[in-house]
Amino acid sequence: MPDVKRITTNTLQQMKKAGEKISMLTAYDFSFAGIFDAAGIDVILVGDSASNVMAGHETTVPITLEQMIYHGQSVVRGIKHALVVIDLPFGSYQSNSDIALASAIKMMKETGGHSIKLEGGEEVVDSIRKIVNAGIPVMGHLGLTPQSIYKFGTYSVRAKEENEAAKLKKDALLLQEAGCFALVLEKIPANLAKEVSESLSIPTIGIGAGKYCDGQVLVMHDMLGINNEFNPRFLRKYANLHENITQAVQQYIGDVRSQDFPNEQEQY
Ligand code: KIV
Repeated sequence: MPDVKRITTNTLQQMKKAGEKISMLTAYDFSFAGIFDAAGIDVILVGDSASNVMAGHETTVPITLEQMIYHGQSVVRGIKHALVVIDLPFGSYQSNSDIALASAIKMMKETGGHSIKLEGGEEVVDSIRKIVNAGIPVMGHLGLTPQSIYKFGTYSVRAKEENEAAKLKKDALLLQEAGCFALVLEKIPANLAKEVSESLSIPTIGIGAGKYCDGQVLVMHDMLGINNEFNPRFLRKYANLHENITQAVQQYIGDVRSQDFPNEQEQY
């Protein structure tokens, strides 16, 4: 075994206790997962945002369990250190808790991932309990839950109104009691995320949920500037790969056309 300390669900809970912030990024393939892992990321989320950024769908609804398994397998092969969380996609757990458990078991057996994530509160608590009882760590996801986009109709900030905020606080406690090891809080007011984070013993990982969460997550294509059409307020871009890649590809096209590439040293 290589001498690398693996991050576990327990590590994340210790980090919360110690006040150390948790870093999480999405990845969908072997190469990027390996780079993020070597850079020291704590958690890699194989998000169902693969449906958007890898497959080009408008929503996360179409991606299938088999497709998520393919992405999960690819990421797991690139990892030595990070905890890998894999999303259960829409349709693979909502029907009933037996189907949810079967999907979670299939995901774990076929990918070698370390945990699964699913969206929702009270409605999925029975499923979470069953999956956790089977020995599978579960990350919850509250606030903006993109698999329910057709129910809510927009991607705007959630839980601004008191009744929705009250439901979210109740759901967060239910998910903790059901055995979730962490919760994603997506696109909710920072003060609500603060209150939830302080009320839980498990870590919260925010996206568009402000600075008081116990960790942060971003979609890799957004933070690396690969996708230059998505510019919400919460997004900080750490690179402009859209421009860098465009320039590199244009230079390559020019070199091929001018017969500068390949040169004498680049041939056998
Ligand atoms: O699928 C995904 O990328 C996610 C993150 C936005 C948290 O669920």
